[in-house]
Amino acid sequence: MANVTVIGAQWGDEGKGKIVDWLASRADAVVRFQGGHNAGHTLVVGEQVYKLSLLPSGIVTGTLSIIGNGVVLDPWALKAEIEKLEGQGVVINTENFAIADNCPLILPIHGELDMMREAAAGAGKIGTTGRGIGPAYEDKVGRRAIRVCDLAHLDHLEPQLDRLCAHHDALRAGFGEPMVDRAKLIAALKEIAPFVLQYAQPVWKRLKKVRKAGARILFEGAQGVLLDVDHGTYPFVTSSNTVSGTAASGSGLGPSATGFVLGIVKAYTTRVGSGPFPTELEDATGQRLGERGHEFGTVTGRKRRCGWFDAVLVRQSCAISGVTGIALTKVDVLDGFDTVKICTGYRLNGKVLDYFPSHAADQANVEPIYEEMDGWPGTTAGARSWADLPAQAIKYIQRVQELIETPVALVSTSPEREDTILVRDPFQD
Ligand code: IMP
Repeated sequence: MANVTVIGAQWGDEGKGKIVDWLASRADAVVRFQGGHNAGHTLVVGEQVYKLSLLPSGIVTGTLSIIGNGVVLDPWALKAEIEKLEGQGVVINTENFAIADNCPLILPIHGELDMMREAAAGAGKIGTTGRGIGPAYEDKVGRRAIRVCDLAHLDHLEPQLDRLCAHHDALRAGFGEPMVDRAKLIAALKEIAPFVLQYAQPVWKRLKKVRKAGARILFEGAQGVLLDVDHGTYPFVTSSNTVSGTAASGSGLGPSATGFVLGIVKAYTTRVGSGPFPTELEDATGQRLGERGHEFGTVTGRKRRCGWFDAVLVRQSCAISGVTGIALTKVDVLDGFDTVKICTGYRLNGKVLDYFPSHAADQANVEPIYEEMDGWPGTTAGARSWADLPAQAIKYIQRVQELIETPVALVSTSPEREDTILVRDPFQD
């Protein structure tokens, strides 16, 4: 059986939640492999709306849900999210939920550091979600993180705390902030430890068993390729690798497990936080896209920046992430426009580019080259087959597919699970 890896092919917020939920209902296991509770997934199932930040989307349907080692885990955010979902009737137990015991923890000092840095950066701020994601990953690669498995050994944490606090105290002193309150930190960890430990295990082993049994695994990416720490709009990126390859390293399965790579692509472009955005529209059209698309962040509530579809960026994301097929979302937001535009290249210093350059200044200075198409009358909202779509909307989708050099596997036409046109089933591929 094929596995499926879902990733965002833009700057996140492409509408992954719905697609992942739809796929999760047909998967045997769902795995988060990077990021943390900076992600925001909204699932609409019937009358119920679920907002997830950290838990894999499979949790809502009772599918085995796993947080892999590539994730950075805030134990207090985990508890709050589980309790909120349980309040909505979702059943979460040790049968259907597991956390990698080698996951690094996000501690309160990480969120604090995010905020101190952003406050000090002024106009140069990254626009982080303030969840401590970056500082937690820094401690992971700096070999001073406290990990889930450490929660079972809190009485022997002194040497690790020495390393961690030596680093953080120096940084905090630089910001004029008090040293880490070690006693408070240990007390908080002792209190939360039993809650986290009940789910902790070497998940690579569980996944190996699941895979051997021929089960279908869905790898659920967070954020988007353009926020990838290597391939994204550095330094305006998140601190993890958001590309499909991370599904393997972030879960403990080899690269052959990743299967069909489904890139989620919004029919226009949005971005939250700072950084370059060539097709951004700071006018009434951008405003209209934002209003029609309800473009406010799930996690922070921030207004998203909006612009036309950028085929150059998505083509690049699809190549970098080895995307097999895309799921195109929110085409209905473009309903009613007289004309729509697609960016097909950039102009930079008198040259035409067919790719997004690496340097931040070049990224900020490229000028989009647009192709203009007629809009369509009527609506695409709720369409479940090509026959339900206006002819001009089909032309738009076909042009997108051609320009990004990647086939469309699904078209999503509303937040509802059933409002989907299935062209190619990722699980059957
Ligand atoms: P961080 O991941 O909180 O450090 O934020 C770094 C950048 O990634 C900021 O521009 C955030 O707005 C952006 N970001 C992080 N998570 C998401 C997400 O789930 N969707 C969209 N943008 C995100």
